[in-house]
Amino acid sequence: MEKPVMGDTVLEESFRRAGGKRTYVQRLFARIARVYDLLNRLMSLGLDRRWRAFAARCLALGPGEIGLDLGAGTADLAIAVIRQAGPGARMIGMDITPEMLDLGRRKLVRLGLQDRIELRVGDAEHIDLPDNSVDGCCSAFMMRNVTDLRQALREMLRVVRPGGRMVCLEISHPPGKLLGALFHLYFYRIAPLFGAIIGKAAEEYRYLPRSLTHFPDAPALKAIMEEVGWSEVRFHRLNGGIVAVHVATKPGPGSKSGTSADEADQPLA
Ligand SMILES: C[S@@+](CC[C@H](N)C(=O)[O-])C[C@H]1O[C@@H](n2cnc3c(N)ncnc32)[C@H](O)[C@@H]1O
Repeated sequence: MEKPVMGDTVLEESFRRAGGKRTYVQRLFARIARVYDLLNRLMSLGLDRRWRAFAARCLALGPGEIGLDLGAGTADLAIAVIRQAGPGARMIGMDITPEMLDLGRRKLVRLGLQDRIELRVGDAEHIDLPDNSVDGCCSAFMMRNVTDLRQALREMLRVVRPGGRMVCLEISHPPGKLLGALFHLYFYRIAPLFGAIIGKAAEEYRYLPRSLTHFPDAPALKAIMEEVGWSEVRFHRLNGGIVAVHVATKPGPGSKSGTSADEADQPLA
């Protein structure tokens, strides 16, 4: 079992008191569920929707295919995937926090998508699905929150069929010095104020930036994905690299061997 990579003694103490990172994370998202969507929009200045739409285009679920969204939360990525997918495609969304899924279910009913997206309680590190059972798998802003990153990536690899794809959208470390410094100021100092003032959740929104501190940067995440067995791994840096979208294929029929080049900042239009 991999040791949680946080390197933040205050955070590690909080995990310990909660009985582990998983329980800490689950309780945290249960507390902020009702303000989560609003704060996402505000803190990302509305960009989060475009990031998910980009990730959904990378997954490109075909007609009749089944996709899996891990850490589905209030279902925004699953919805973006279905909007881009071919006819008859369906999504399963899994999350460890029932409160997030409840809000997601209400959203699906409002949008008339409840027959195409099913939301279930489930853990990305122990996915309750058979081997090779989905055509594609994705996650948005979940990977920073898992206890064992490699275990989650291995589980994704196990449930995706050979030749199927995975897409991971996550906050990242912008490579440029100036943008890096500005992003740091915004993400660590300003964004948590939205959480404290609007969401009345100061501790929770202090956790979110700290969860990035020891998360691998985009090239390092690519290397870990290759190490656990994903092939054709590449990443797109969006908006100067404040988020990264990693795309990979499970080796097997339809996939090329090896890895492809990393891609520069992508236009989102
Ligand atoms: C930042 S939210 C992202 C929600 C959604 N994907 C989105 O794009 O808005 C992270 C979600 O991951 C979930 N999560 C954290 N660890 C998880 C795990 N091990 N398995 C499944 N879900 C997990 C949390 O409960 C939370 O709903």
